[in-house]
Amino acid sequence: MTRKVHVETWGCQMNVADSEKMLSLLQGMDYVLTEDEKEADLFLLNTCHIREKAKHKVISRLGMLREMKKQRPGVQIAVTGCVAQAEGAKLLKEAPQIDVLVGPGKIDELPALIQKSTVEGTAAMATGFNKPGDELKRGHHDHNTGTVPPTLTGKNEVTRFVNIIQGCNNFCTFCIVPFTRGREISRQPGEILAETRRLVEGGAREVMLLGQNVNSYGLDLVEKGDLAAGNDGPFVELLRQVANTPGLQRLRFTTSNPHDFTRPLAQLFADDPRMGRYMHLPVQSGNDRVLEVMRRKVTVEEYRERIRWLRDAVPDMAISTDLIVGFPGETDAEFEDTLKLVEEVQYSFIYAFKYSPRKGTAAARMPGQLPEAVMDERLARLNALQDSITMRQTEAECGAVREVLFLYESKKSPGVFYGRTEHFRLVRVESSRPLVGECLPVLITGGNKTALVGELADRITLH
Ligand code: 5AD
Ligand code: SF4
Repeated sequence: MTRKVHVETWGCQMNVADSEKMLSLLQGMDYVLTEDEKEADLFLLNTCHIREKAKHKVISRLGMLREMKKQRPGVQIAVTGCVAQAEGAKLLKEAPQIDVLVGPGKIDELPALIQKSTVEGTAAMATGFNKPGDELKRGHHDHNTGTVPPTLTGKNEVTRFVNIIQGCNNFCTFCIVPFTRGREISRQPGEILAETRRLVEGGAREVMLLGQNVNSYGLDLVEKGDLAAGNDGPFVELLRQVANTPGLQRLRFTTSNPHDFTRPLAQLFADDPRMGRYMHLPVQSGNDRVLEVMRRKVTVEEYRERIRWLRDAVPDMAISTDLIVGFPGETDAEFEDTLKLVEEVQYSFIYAFKYSPRKGTAAARMPGQLPEAVMDERLARLNALQDSITMRQTEAECGAVREVLFLYESKKSPGVFYGRTEHFRLVRVESSRPLVGECLPVLITGGNKTALVGELADRITLH
């Protein structure tokens, strides 16, 4: 009998990709996706542990589901993702409404665990990781069926995610990821190429390669002797090969660590227009002392050098970043350095976060934990500065004609389409004919800090 699953995903794109992978596995068990909670037989919560707030959302959602389960005892709850990995058996004890608990390293076991929990009527769990050096036995999607895997929301079928590397070896002192996602393990290039080809044949136009630290892609494979290093390193080689997938219009990737960022990668943006003119390069702080205690392994000057590589290669390169305010011990003057860097680089957007202590990380044990009010004030100042920079850029865009890849049509307002420029700015365009999947010139006429507004440039030339 067909059963229905309601999928809820928090956190990063990696989690979105994992949710799609799990949905694909569940479809193999005769589950179908439902948006309607009332008809769901299974709730899949794919959770995030990166900051305390993300974890609280999961805990409060679990509380709501506990009440729901009192009315509908047959319903099953599966908790996956980074909270599942970090809390493991402790979470099962605290929240007995959970039927299945799976860490991000054990996704393949989800069907068997659901089966086990159903048959035995008890909770089933699997956490932990493959060992470093192990080959990833699976890809993000099922390679044997040759079918196009599902998207979660159906909102954007034009951009698809492809996992290329799991885990992180960096151990930045604030970050829980190396604990919840394990050490770096790269997928074989052949698998990545085959998956990309299949997604593009199925209608994707843009592919986003995913990893916590994509720049170290393949270093483990080279070490094992599975892959030749090549002149420009395995990640650049991979990008070159994936970019040649017939029908692929744009190739993007995230996330990069400046420490492993190389000049040949910057040069690739100049050599291949399919790479777009945008890159996300998280810096976290504009102050050398703070960067050192964060164990980011680059100085502000080394970070600036990487920005120069990018802008030497592509002068109008758009860059975004992640920043943390209120890291333990961060002084007012050190925070001012972050503001200065933001002003200097002229990011197209930033993701700014208040520092959130994560149990088990080195920073959580450091002296000088700052009061919430100080962090609130710093965050507000930083966001206000970036808003003014983004607004200036929006004004400067007016009158420009940009290549826009259209990604989706608004569900609420049919005839309103959204796409992205090569600089990754979101653009809103009204059109009576469908645009999704097309790459078209758009005249930018206005906008705000989140989206530009434009008109199809071909229509303008007709008048
Ligand atoms: N507190 C606040 N922000 C964090 N990030 C990672 N860990 C923490 C933390 N403990 C931010 C970083 C990272 C992004 C994904 O999340 O800026 O780049
Ligand atoms: Fe976390 Fe640093 Fe690894 Fe990024 S590079 S996932 S911030 S430890």
